Amino acid sequence: VKRAILSRQDPIALADFLRAAIDRRADLVARVHGESTDCYRLLHGVTEGAPGVTIDRYGPVLLIQTWRTSLTMGARDAIHRLATDALGTDLVPIWRSRGGGPAGVDAAGDTADYAAVGSPVGLEFGLAYDVRPFHRGQDPLLFLDLRAGRRRIRDAAAGHTVLNLFAYTGSIGLCAAACGADLVWNVDFAAAAIEVARANAARNGLTGDRCRVIRADVIPTVRQLAGLPVKGRAAHQRTFARFAPRQFDLVALDPPRWARGPFGAVDVVRDYPALFKPALLATRPGGDLLATNHAPEVDVADWRAQLERCAAKVGRPLAAIEIIAPEDDFPSFDARPPLKIAWVRVAD
Ligand SMILES: C[S@@+](CC[C@H](N)C(=O)[O-])C[C@H]1O[C@@H](n2cnc3c(N)ncnc32)[C@H](O)[C@@H]1O
Repeated sequence: VKRAILSRQDPIALADFLRAAIDRRADLVARVHGESTDCYRLLHGVTEGAPGVTIDRYGPVLLIQTWRTSLTMGARDAIHRLATDALGTDLVPIWRSRGGGPAGVDAAGDTADYAAVGSPVGLEFGLAYDVRPFHRGQDPLLFLDLRAGRRRIRDAAAGHTVLNLFAYTGSIGLCAAACGADLVWNVDFAAAAIEVARANAARNGLTGDRCRVIRADVIPTVRQLAGLPVKGRAAHQRTFARFAPRQFDLVALDPPRWARGPFGAVDVVRDYPALFKPALLATRPGGDLLATNHAPEVDVADWRAQLERCAAKVGRPLAAIEIIAPEDDFPSFDARPPLKIAWVRVAD
């Protein structure tokens, strides 16, 4: 039954696409290895000929994710052999079906995978991250396409105060703290993500008041920091963490595409300004804001214009906006990646 279910992905074609993708990455892989990074994408779906399939290296793990198709055991083994030869290291192959294939998290219950993978740790810029492929959520614990943003944060953080909104497992804040930020606040409301962020911080010796991991809803938190009222029914009915108005030198705003919370929905397609305006007001004049938009249907020029309009409306003009592209392991058609990253300089 297992083999019958898993018989849709042609192992030869997939291995060919992977081989070509790894060849294209030869420079990138050498470069990131030199930066003490062993987490990167090896095959990026449709843009590299394999719709609905991504293959990532996360430290000791080879993570194959499929959205629209299943994977044969033959394909998994061919991918494993190829990656092992190309990278010169034996990785533990893990398959996660993200829809379309059989339900469940790994190669149709291949329990050997669970035992083999243990509690893996991956490296990026010398920082160690929990990269367990099996945990409560569906998404990996480190988003690889945001490496370009983290690189910028590393360059900019020294001597600054940093607010990391929608912190998830803390990667942006940890980069800032490791690169000499004076103070970092990581804010997220998900207990599981916070737990991983705290463990990641401890694993890298980034603990104490200089690098805080705060479990709180971003919406009331950033509004209070911006000196704005907390709105909506939840503001009267619920208790929420209180913060005095405060501005940070560097703010990271990396919201999910959509999320519902007691203080309103996060919706980056319909209402980015609800997040961007308070984040901007919580950034000091002359400071910087890293903002992202993950929605593929949002055009980068429209989004950029929207950020400028927001800034004008709240009376905080921008000195510059630079769009940062994801790195070469995330190729895109027409240089229009679904993940848009803006580095915004607030005028003095
Ligand atoms: C795309 S992830 C952020 C990735 C993260 N910036 C990183 O560097 O890996 C989205 C995160 O937003 C959090 N989230 C969604 N709505 C939230 C809210 N209203 N308040 C706090 N966290 C929220 C989720 O718990 C999740 O961890």
